[in-house]
Amino acid sequence: MKLERRDSKKLIFFGGAYSNLEATIELKNILDSKRISPKDIFCTGDILAYCADPNETIEVFKEWGINSIYGNVEEQLVGDQENCGCNFKEGTECDILSRNWYEYIRSNVTEESMNYLRTLPASFSIKFGDHSLRIIHGGVNDISKFFFKETSIEIFEKEVAPLADEQIVIAGHSGIPFLKELKNHYWINAGVIGMPANDGTTRAWYLELTLEDGLWASLHSFSYNSKSTSEKMNKKNLPSEYASTLKSGIWPNQDIIPIAQRDNQGIALKEEKRKIK
Ligand SMILES: [Fe+2]
Repeated sequence: MKLERRDSKKLIFFGGAYSNLEATIELKNILDSKRISPKDIFCTGDILAYCADPNETIEVFKEWGINSIYGNVEEQLVGDQENCGCNFKEGTECDILSRNWYEYIRSNVTEESMNYLRTLPASFSIKFGDHSLRIIHGGVNDISKFFFKETSIEIFEKEVAPLADEQIVIAGHSGIPFLKELKNHYWINAGVIGMPANDGTTRAWYLELTLEDGLWASLHSFSYNSKSTSEKMNKKNLPSEYASTLKSGIWPNQDIIPIAQRDNQGIALKEEKRKIK
């Protein structure tokens, strides 16, 4: 774990670039126009997954100079494993589709890209003002654990129990952004940019944390040329189900989502700004 301090007033977090070059470039343009320094930008992992441009996406990360931890996809690639490490139940749609896109990455990722992935840490601990942030991919101890807004409070509390009080967790992996207040902690999912949030829109999401008379968290969305990303996937014979998701905003299935949250599919998420400390 890397422990660092940031003295700026604003930090940016996003996850799941998922080899989506168009979304990555669009986010870079947005943050460049807001004059956000790359050292204040953090990716929560899964730089690579479903889409067609793994090496090109890594190139943008490298040139941009932002921080990233590794996600389960990078962990599996670096460990020369044969699956994406999401622990999808065998035979489910996610499991079958992941064999296709994961194998595409393994066959196409260059040694130069792999060398970059090998430099990524598992997590960051950041001091931001008086606040302590812990940046992780999935769960605190299990990189592939899925957490959603509707995950039970008991499961969240058990997960944060080993952490210092008041620590703010910023996670990725599960693909839908949210802000969740716990007893002594906050759990934030920064959202992903490489696939829609299953809300019927094609938007990508990121998180801004701002020090301004307290600590403010804002979930922001943006649009990009997702049609082009989708077409490239089709040309490379990547799963058409995910290529369609880029255009419909609806996931191929809801296997990983808690039952209580499944009714939210197709309901457009709202941007949100909240004082959290
Ligand atoms: Fe992941």
